[in-house]
Amino acid sequence: MLIRPRRNRRSESIRSMVQETRLDVSQLVYPLFLVDGKGIKNEVSSLPGNYRLSMDEALRTVEECLKLNLGNFILFPSIAEELKDKRATYSWNDENFYLKVAGSIKREFPDTTLISDVAMDPYSSDGHDGYVIEGKIDNDKTLPILANMAVAQAQAGFDILGPSDMMDGRVRAIREALDDAGYSDTGIMSYTAKYASAFYGPFRDALDSAPKAGDKKTYQMNPANKREALIEADLDAAEGADFLMVKPALNYLDVIHLLREHSQLPIAAYHVSGECAMLIAACQKGWLNYEQAMPEVLLSIKRAGADVIITYFARDYAALVKR
Ligand code: PBG
Repeated sequence: MLIRPRRNRRSESIRSMVQETRLDVSQLVYPLFLVDGKGIKNEVSSLPGNYRLSMDEALRTVEECLKLNLGNFILFPSIAEELKDKRATYSWNDENFYLKVAGSIKREFPDTTLISDVAMDPYSSDGHDGYVIEGKIDNDKTLPILANMAVAQAQAGFDILGPSDMMDGRVRAIREALDDAGYSDTGIMSYTAKYASAFYGPFRDALDSAPKAGDKKTYQMNPANKREALIEADLDAAEGADFLMVKPALNYLDVIHLLREHSQLPIAAYHVSGECAMLIAACQKGWLNYEQAMPEVLLSIKRAGADVIITYFARDYAALVKR
């Protein structure tokens, strides 16, 4: 035998020398669920280890993450039912605690990178990402709402905005509104290929944001489609997106790979709540080993071509690396 691939697997140091993919904590983003109030740390039952946090608890969590070199966060608001309305107006209200929490995190910890969520669903009495008129999502009437929300978030101090709504033309509407308001440095991480997935369940539990009627299939993509992701990628790039995102991640590694090959923009992958919950559940049952399986899962998303991974495991991974 002239060729023996096992020679390069002989020792830890040789294996490390030829390792093709590495995952650095700086490439991870940790999602935080926020609620109004004080002293609240309320566990999401379908996503153990993740909590709805009031401002004081969120600041404490951020501080603990920074000690692990984890400084990138994506924030989501859990809004009281009585503040929701058809046009999601609370999303750009000065009193919105979500905007205040972002501002105070940036003031206390200026080195963090904060990513927002731009979509109507947490604020919408219909539980949809777009404006519902007579039972239908009105794409074009949703755009100015998203633009208002985006400007308020930029003003609050978010570094990067994350439109997760899948309306047509929203990246451009948001980019233009930001530029007009003087926020030309605020970035856009567009949810480019966001699928109508069954894996968002624990997230909707956390925010109580499930649609009141119907589903999201008229705006989120059909899980069967891959070429369509290229249409979305070209549009988002042309409309001024700074990052393209694929969501979910694990069940869509082929789409991550495709966008990585197709675009020069950084590719983000959202390892969503249901994908994380599955692994947590199997580990709690003793069927899988968390400290071995979790890094393998994250590395596989990286290997598929993601530059940035949004994952509920970010903090545990950072703690593992630190040890
Ligand atoms: C809302 C939004 C969702 C997620 C991120 N932003 C849910 C949805 O589209 O219904 C899901 C994230 C997760 O499951 O972790 N626009």
